[in-house]
Amino acid sequence: MVRRYVFGSPLETDAVIKKPEACGSKTQFFEKEGSTLRYMMDEEDIVYGLGENVRGINKRGWIYVSNCTDEPHHHENTSSLYGAHNFLIVAGKGKRPFGLFLDTPDKIAFDIGYTKHSLLEIRIDGMDYELYEFEGETPDEIVKEFREMIGLPFLPPKWAFGFGQCRWSYRTSQEVREVARQYRENHIPIDSIYLDIDYMERYKDFTIDRESFPDFEALVSEMKEQGIHLVPIIDAGVKIEEGYDTYEEGVKNGYFCKDENGEDFVVGVWPGRCHFPDMLNDEARRWFGLKYKFLLDKGIDGFWNDMNEPAIFYSERRLKETFDKLEEYRDINLDVKSFFAFKDMVAGLEKNPEDYRSFYHNYRGERIRHDKVHNLFGYYMTRSAGEAFEELEPDRRILMFSRSSYIGMHRYGGIWMGDNKSWWSHILMNLKMLPSLNMCGFLYTGADIGGFSCDATEDLVLRWLSLGIFTPLMRNHSCDGTRRQEAYAFEDTEAFAGIIGLRYRLLPYLYSEFMKAVLKNEMYARPLGFVWGEDPVARRTEDQLMIGESVMIAPVYEQNAAGRTVYLPEEMKLVRFGGTEITEERELPAGHHYIEVALDEVVIFIRKGRILPLAQTAEKVDDVDWDTLELIHFAQPGAVYELYDDDGAERHPKLEEHISEIVL
Ligand code: NOJ
Repeated sequence: MVRRYVFGSPLETDAVIKKPEACGSKTQFFEKEGSTLRYMMDEEDIVYGLGENVRGINKRGWIYVSNCTDEPHHHENTSSLYGAHNFLIVAGKGKRPFGLFLDTPDKIAFDIGYTKHSLLEIRIDGMDYELYEFEGETPDEIVKEFREMIGLPFLPPKWAFGFGQCRWSYRTSQEVREVARQYRENHIPIDSIYLDIDYMERYKDFTIDRESFPDFEALVSEMKEQGIHLVPIIDAGVKIEEGYDTYEEGVKNGYFCKDENGEDFVVGVWPGRCHFPDMLNDEARRWFGLKYKFLLDKGIDGFWNDMNEPAIFYSERRLKETFDKLEEYRDINLDVKSFFAFKDMVAGLEKNPEDYRSFYHNYRGERIRHDKVHNLFGYYMTRSAGEAFEELEPDRRILMFSRSSYIGMHRYGGIWMGDNKSWWSHILMNLKMLPSLNMCGFLYTGADIGGFSCDATEDLVLRWLSLGIFTPLMRNHSCDGTRRQEAYAFEDTEAFAGIIGLRYRLLPYLYSEFMKAVLKNEMYARPLGFVWGEDPVARRTEDQLMIGESVMIAPVYEQNAAGRTVYLPEEMKLVRFGGTEITEERELPAGHHYIEVALDEVVIFIRKGRILPLAQTAEKVDDVDWDTLELIHFAQPGAVYELYDDDGAERHPKLEEHISEIVL
């Protein structure tokens, strides 16, 4: 059951595509005072949701602020990440759960037991918003209600379920060839190599640096022959440069965001001075989206959209003011106060809130200040590409994922979890974010495996991969200047080949579970509390997940650990893989168990009555043989598994046409 309330005159965000009739103003679960909502939680209430955020699967005990932010140094104390996902579920014990969605691009603070342990207080920055309340028997039911309202998630092509290798940056065609060679020669499976900003000429979207990539088109097809898709990045800022077509067309047609005087607003990002295309303006959005054709025509079939919070290094105006002020400090004795003021002035150039209040959009004919729609920018940038792909490539899926997002963007692309670090704690954060994102429709997601910034170690990358083989987006990515962390960069290449190879064995299962979850508006990765809601231990388990209907995972995320304690809410079958081979199958009773897991092993747990179909391993998705499956199970003869398969390209597949029953 869904109830919709409208307060003030909210801006249409296009998050929801099926709106129920609005009802009165008296909300069922929340006490409302202006734009503050309050709910008193009891000790057993668990709060799920909020998509991309730090901390637990259970969000209690912190304050989260919906304000899309480029936050490469995030940790436990962070309140805002790249997305704004205002959906949560309160699941108590012995009572029906309920859900909430707030549809407004305004900043919202979700104080979930931070100020007062029992108080869930939501403070919305504006007075205009739509509020939805959901009721159901289970959290799964509430997710379904919500997801039915916001529409089906975007579908990536099947090859995008293979392993991908990224780095900021592979700077030349030769370097890309070398990465491919290392993977293929070491027999480590791979389906994609990513191109970061250096493939562009002076960081200009929809251009190629012909000095470093003289043979770009040939490279794309040569890689395709090896079964490797090249996936270039696209940035939100368009470089100001005379003679650059995207810049000139944008200026001529008035497609860029404006300052208060109606001039194109100038910000600094990678290329230096840039303009932001007005992604919220329908015409500008279509124009920008159709620009991707430049790369589609060169054989590219996947993209990632970056810096679309949008990230701002500086605004031209603030930069000028800062230089002027810095002069004043030149001759003074910098004491404690003036030194910090001096330092903060430069540090404060980046992501300055005042800059976000200094430019304007033309949204459906209305001039709107950016900060009022800030949380929609990444969504609309990705929508621009998604809509263009439907138009340009109606018969096949194009890979797309974004850094910034808002509810509703999941219809146009997936997301990656932004700039994490090569920290053990970020493996766990990756695990916890998965179900929260699934609730909001973001099923095609994953983190930078191995960590983006900081230096990775071999054991960290192996352990992270052991989780990453279960995330739909499985990509190793690292920052410029960090230690190399490609799967061939360490000593035990075989261990990497084994774990990544296992991903390909699991593909028929993972793809089936992903597609069923997408098409039925269900979760792909579930917290244990969704499945065993009345089990006091399962409800509080924060480091294990159900992946699909058959498999529970419990990855190791501590350095030097020989294994870990795993909680089984019910009797399960342990299956141990040494690389791609099964080395142990053992039934275990419900309860806690210490399970040893070596660095080159993956251990999973199969639910009673369930089946796990496994393919033979392969070095690319196209080579996975879906027809010859080995059935690993903890079930009796007669048990059934519903296998999903399609050509991996169809844009709008119908579930029933692609399901076949495998009977044990
Ligand atoms: C920031 C992105 O989050 C990261 O993945 C990328 O490597 C850099 N931008 C450079 O493009």
